[in-house]
Amino acid sequence: MEWKDEAKKRAAYEATKHIKDGMVVGLGTGSTAKYAIERIGMLVSEGYDIVGIPTSKKTEEIARQHGIKIGDINEYDIIDVTIDGADQIDKNLNLIKGGGGALLREKIVASCSKLEIIVADESKLVDKFSFPLPVEVVKFGWRRTEEKLKELGLRPKRRDFVTDNGNYILDCDYDRLEYEMEAKINTLPGVVENGLFINMASFAIIGYRDGSTKIMEARK
Ligand code: A5P
Repeated sequence: MEWKDEAKKRAAYEATKHIKDGMVVGLGTGSTAKYAIERIGMLVSEGYDIVGIPTSKKTEEIARQHGIKIGDINEYDIIDVTIDGADQIDKNLNLIKGGGGALLREKIVASCSKLEIIVADESKLVDKFSFPLPVEVVKFGWRRTEEKLKELGLRPKRRDFVTDNGNYILDCDYDRLEYEMEAKINTLPGVVENGLFINMASFAIIGYRDGSTKIMEARK
């Protein structure tokens, strides 16, 4: 196994220690969150009564394969813990997500979670964001929405992909990405959501190349 995969697995397994019998658990999307799902499946086979709220159709499929009961988010007021990955994590514990195209459901689930634990290998830590920001837009008039994003100083490029919600993703390059862009982008007609996650993570668990695992909290 490559060091990154080992680091992802270690971080994800560590995060599952926050799960207790009877909890409603948000299930993230991506190659790191997948390890958490695998471990939750083991807890279920040990007798834990867990309801999983998936953040994508792919995650739902994986969770079912691991024997995890799937719940409808509308039927639970609160999600106890969510474990999800990220594409980049900055020093303030803000994130870029959506590389896997699941940002909308990920943000909805994160916003209803008592604890949002981000799991990643150390390559995701950055001083300054550089990962193209995914913006989910409705298909109708997407070229017009693209123009509006350019007016905000972004350089969007449509991904050859349709989200679980039937929308497009525009991956946006930029010179500098301010936190205020999360709200600004979402005011544009046609935009459904974007992949900037500001003040949403409770803490992150990072797996390092040297075999260690550390908890990263937001700077006070
Ligand atoms: C999915 O839309 C993303 O937000 C993922 O959480 C992110 O891409 C991390 O994926 P990996 O764990 O595969 O890097």
